[in-house]
Amino acid sequence: AVLGPLGNPTHIEKKGTVVCVGGGIGVAPLHPIVQAHKAAGNKVIVIMGARNKDLLIFEDEMRALADELYIMTDDGSAGTKGLVTEPLKQLCESQCPPAEVVAIGPPIMMKFCALTTKPYNVPTVASLNTIMIDGTGMCGGCRITVGGETKFVCVDGPEFDAHLVDFDGAMRSSAMYRQMEKEKDCQGMEKLSQESK
Ligand code: FES
Repeated sequence: AVLGPLGNPTHIEKKGTVVCVGGGIGVAPLHPIVQAHKAAGNKVIVIMGARNKDLLIFEDEMRALADELYIMTDDGSAGTKGLVTEPLKQLCESQCPPAEVVAIGPPIMMKFCALTTKPYNVPTVASLNTIMIDGTGMCGGCRITVGGETKFVCVDGPEFDAHLVDFDGAMRSSAMYRQMEKEKDCQGMEKLSQESK
């Protein structure tokens, strides 16, 4: 069965300049947000990051939409070699800093985007993509800490004030789940190899 829509819609209004930062596959869910900010009359600057050229997605679509586009890759195979936080910092330092930053990508990227914008007091929204199991706030699988309070990404999110999110805690629990998954897989393998004997 499919249940939905769950969670809360992105809050979009005319604010001026909005910087949208997408890392890896986070660029895909960023695309409708860029579209909505454009439709609301905002100037949208997009910063996209990927490990290399082959992992860059939605480049043409973003180029068509964005008022300015920065492409950053770890190896310099496309755009500029470096991290998404480099152009982000420059934009925050500029004469007219962005009214808002939206970041979607790996937690480590969102953490560093939040750390980059914080000293400039640029409001920053992180769209979190934690593990979700029931999607109703019952299982606790997507629990995170925001400003010292427990929140559930599925019902309270997925967007949160990035300056308040405990990204380290979120990364610790996703590492824990990955480990549990790995153990589960290993156990499955063990069972399979016993059966085949
Ligand atoms: Fe279960 Fe959010 S997915 S509480």
